[in-house]
Amino acid sequence: MLRMVDVIAKKRDGEVLSKEEIEFFVNGYTDGSIPDYQASAFLMAIYFQKMTTEEQGYLTMAMAESGDQIDLSAIDGVKVDKHSTGGVGDTTTLILAPLVAACGVPVAKMSGRGLGHTGGTLDKLEAIKGFHVEISTEQFIQQVNDLKIAVIGQSGNLTPADKKLYALRDVTATVDSIPLIASSIMSKKLAAGADAIVLDVKTGAGAFMKTLEDSRQLADAMVAIGNEVGRNTSAVISDMSQPLGFAIGNAVEVKEAIDTLQGKGPADLTELCLVLGSKMILAAGRAETESDARTQLQKVMDNGDALRLFGELIKAQGGNPEVIDNTDLLPKAQYQIEVPARKSGYISKIDADEVGVAAMLLGAGRATKEDVIDLAVGIMLRKKIGDYVEVGEALAILHTNQQQADESINLLQEHIHISIEKIDAPPLIHSL
Ligand code: URA
Ligand code: CA
Repeated sequence: MLRMVDVIAKKRDGEVLSKEEIEFFVNGYTDGSIPDYQASAFLMAIYFQKMTTEEQGYLTMAMAESGDQIDLSAIDGVKVDKHSTGGVGDTTTLILAPLVAACGVPVAKMSGRGLGHTGGTLDKLEAIKGFHVEISTEQFIQQVNDLKIAVIGQSGNLTPADKKLYALRDVTATVDSIPLIASSIMSKKLAAGADAIVLDVKTGAGAFMKTLEDSRQLADAMVAIGNEVGRNTSAVISDMSQPLGFAIGNAVEVKEAIDTLQGKGPADLTELCLVLGSKMILAAGRAETESDARTQLQKVMDNGDALRLFGELIKAQGGNPEVIDNTDLLPKAQYQIEVPARKSGYISKIDADEVGVAAMLLGAGRATKEDVIDLAVGIMLRKKIGDYVEVGEALAILHTNQQQADESINLLQEHIHISIEKIDAPPLIHSL
């Protein structure tokens, strides 16, 4: 008989745990037979002693199997999922999904709402009038087989072990552990049924991982876990030292996504979608090389196929597909307020986190689960790192339904830094 106290001691002493020991912990903690105090001690032991790739694979699988698992086997082809570790104004999913689906890769996207500076992918899609994500699993699978693309709201009891452990980590100073973060993220992807996973690990001030070194370690750990448990997994490390694209909000990000699918999007957002999309097409086995994959993506962007498919997705899920040709149909905020630069110079730094907070103050995101998002509001940046600005010129435009937005204006003026020296834009992709 295993005893938790022995498992804790073993990890405390830096030994390697067996599959049985790790499953014993995850199952016991999920069903309540292992108490919080033992789980806390165990997490702290992992924090200091770390875990081998094999141990992380066992932990990931045990968490993935702790609740419902989505079965996508009725969908033809390799199901590739993308996961971003989270940033500000990250509109990539809305663009990538139709882009890779138009190249023939089945996109069975399960998305959440969650808490944050802006809504999640689901909230953003709901800015399109009539679009609904509460579809049955049968419709979801049928639609992916017919159209190659569907988006469904997260339902059921996915990875309860991770939910309970994440909450405990939050109050025991054990969130910041690469093996624990990597297995937490990967368990959710596996439970959602992906055959292959492309990870977008963000790095910089607006990211969960602030330094390139930490981001690289997290990426390596997740790629190792994915491949350990038999899922083709690759990662990109991309810049989050400033928000991605110009739009931060919900309707404004949908518009930015449509612009990008039309080939008129911001350069950084477009490039990241092409890089991530290439990896997804490769993982799906639909290209031999990354450059071949990129050519396919560029083609469906240029010939309008990806945009048309986005329209078909919208129509299939009850929304008004005319929005792809007329973004004026999206919800509009009552006021547009300029945020003037306080001095002249080059933009040197944009604290993405704080820009996110400014968007949240306008009503673009949720602080608690009960908060209602104002889909129309958000921020349109006018300047990015390296751009020159004159005193009084607009750094950003606030789209707001409040007549007065001083708090957001002050935050942006404080956190969009201006220097007299010329600054180069940071690289978008730090590592492939
Ligand atoms: N995101 C997750 O899903 N899990 C973690 O542990 C950290 C970030
Ligand atoms: Ca954006």
